[in-house]
Amino acid sequence: MSWISEKAHVELQRVRDAQAKQIYPYFRAFESGGLHTTIGGKPIVNFSSNDYLGLTNHPKVKEAAKAAVDQFACGLSSSRVQATATLHVELEERLAAWYGFEKSLIFTTGYQAMVGTITSLADKDTTVILDNLSHACILDGTFLAAGTPMRAPEVRFFNHNSAKALDRVLRKRDRKNALVMIEGIYSLDGDEAKIQEFVDVCAQHENVAMVCDDAHGTGTLGKGGRGIIEKYGLEGQVPVVISTFSKTFGGIGGILLGDADVVDFIKHNARSFLFSASLPVPIVAAASTILDMLEADGEALVNELHEKSAYMRKGLTDIGFDLGDSNSHIMPIMIRDETKAMFTHVALLENGVLMVPIMYPAVKEGEERLRLNVTRGHTYEDMDRALDLLRTYADSFSLVGDTAKTAGT
Ligand SMILES: Cc1ncc(COP(=O)(O)O)c(C=O)c1O
Repeated sequence: MSWISEKAHVELQRVRDAQAKQIYPYFRAFESGGLHTTIGGKPIVNFSSNDYLGLTNHPKVKEAAKAAVDQFACGLSSSRVQATATLHVELEERLAAWYGFEKSLIFTTGYQAMVGTITSLADKDTTVILDNLSHACILDGTFLAAGTPMRAPEVRFFNHNSAKALDRVLRKRDRKNALVMIEGIYSLDGDEAKIQEFVDVCAQHENVAMVCDDAHGTGTLGKGGRGIIEKYGLEGQVPVVISTFSKTFGGIGGILLGDADVVDFIKHNARSFLFSASLPVPIVAAASTILDMLEADGEALVNELHEKSAYMRKGLTDIGFDLGDSNSHIMPIMIRDETKAMFTHVALLENGVLMVPIMYPAVKEGEERLRLNVTRGHTYEDMDRALDLLRTYADSFSLVGDTAKTAGT
């Protein structure tokens, strides 16, 4: 056996144990798309999806993608430098106008958009300042920049969502320029960034630019679904926003928004953009159709999501669940115990409800949770069914109240 196989075997012990107990929760294969699908032939409602407005499976979206397959096929066989389609350009112009930025650029994934942005902007004159609960794409982009010869920005963290902590780091930084990284809504905890406080703190220091990853705010925050900037009226105060097509926009793809020069600079520098194939045009057509819907009906769509979120939140809190710091449609059910989280997941799935457990190392030990995202595509019957099951398990698995707290400590 090579050392690679030995290493892999040792590292996989935890996975093998969970599989042997038949509670391994990941990579379950759906047999169709959408929030209502089947796994192993059994119908399930997916509560761990990021299809926030429930538009991914809309007939018009699928029709647009099918038509684009006929015109452009499934790939353009190269990177955007030599494989840009008219639909990429049109959607970039529309996205910039809709979000209220000078220019936008479509990457093949949101992850690549973030990595490419940080590695383009952060150099030896820069301190990259990160929330300590930053998404992997922010961490990876930062560490890649930090490890790149001749660039090596300084890297500093601040306590999650604390403008005071950010202020301290801004004062103590070593480099001239600061690149402050925040997220509109934090995906595992479901809490909004205290963005107004961050903007205010940044304004008190020289040479500070903020990048906001609004992957989870697009389609869910702001009157028209334009995200956290729209919600708090911060147009013009956050120079770069990054989002994704992999949630509200129903497909895959990254969105970079900023001033024309900034976007053009990243376009000509980001290796994750220049050296990876362009986003397939059928996906562009699907996202473009969802943008049509947001332009026409954004307010109604977002309101419906908020009404459903409020209903589910009340149901969960009435049962007594701890939802951590969540104040959005992302409502992690804090179980705070790995075995209980896995067993609750299996019991829910047996009864047609999917809530994927999130465990160490994705979150700290003692912060194990079930991922519960309410979407506009869920029906009230879906939510009632999930709540009925959760009420039963809260009791039988001691998930709420003092017993749960003791188990989690
Ligand atoms: C906060 C955040 N940023 C970026 C991404 C990456 O987006 P994509 O799926 O388009 O690569 C995600 C998706 O998991 C995310 O949650």
